[in-house]
Amino acid sequence: MKKLLIICSLFLLPLSLSAQAGGGYGITLEHANNDLRDQASLQRGAVLFSNYCMACHSIKYIRYNRIARNIGWSDDEIMEKMAYGQGRVVDDVETRMLPDIAKGVFGTEPPDLSLMSRLKGEDYIYTFLRAYHETEDGTWDNTVLKGTAMPNVLEGIKRHSTEEEYEQAARDITNFLSYVGEPSKLDRLDLGWKVIAFLLLMLLLTYLLKREYWKDIKH
Ligand code: HEC
Repeated sequence: MKKLLIICSLFLLPLSLSAQAGGGYGITLEHANNDLRDQASLQRGAVLFSNYCMACHSIKYIRYNRIARNIGWSDDEIMEKMAYGQGRVVDDVETRMLPDIAKGVFGTEPPDLSLMSRLKGEDYIYTFLRAYHETEDGTWDNTVLKGTAMPNVLEGIKRHSTEEEYEQAARDITNFLSYVGEPSKLDRLDLGWKVIAFLLLMLLLTYLLKREYWKDIKH
């Protein structure tokens, strides 16, 4: 009985760990509800990332041509839509910020965002982007990362679009960063269905084969 209890509690351990991870920021995170298989969202996210984030952030662990291949663009398309004709398609996605400028301007360096979705989670990024609010003295603050050095970069979108469009923009950027954090997950999702279809087909074939073998045997 004791053994059984120990085994059961071991199974529950990951659950309690993940619950802790979610509440670790002292605020409730909103659900990003992003979908990696939504290719249009990934493409919008890539363009938004280029326009609103690359001035300061890099995602230097991925190359343009890999993104293009994964989100359904040709090499020419990505260079036009995301790199604006700068650099080569085999380049890592670097920030447009000049070296050493950031420290002077922000007092800290904007982090590389390649692995941010793995580090902090999709819900964190989604909530963080939308957590800016005006303070009493007329400046911006962020409820997720108080006193952050990052400006409210999506303010323009918020001001000039509907609430849904604004939410969608944050979701698309989050979706894109989630993809960047684990590019092979897209391949895996795709492969998963193929493997299951293959296994189902094999099941059918083996069943038919079994019927064939046992047909003449009285049992
Ligand atoms: C004008 C420069 C600038 C732009 C543009 C910018 N950021 Fe940042 N970002 C920063 C700086 C600086 C930090 C470091 C903030 C800090 O430590 O207070 C940061 C930090 C972050 C973090 C980490 C937050 C954390 O918890 O440590 C995320 C995630 C992030 N940015 C996402 C984005 C996304 C997504 C965009 C585009 C929509 C973007 N940023 C655009 C400057 C920028």
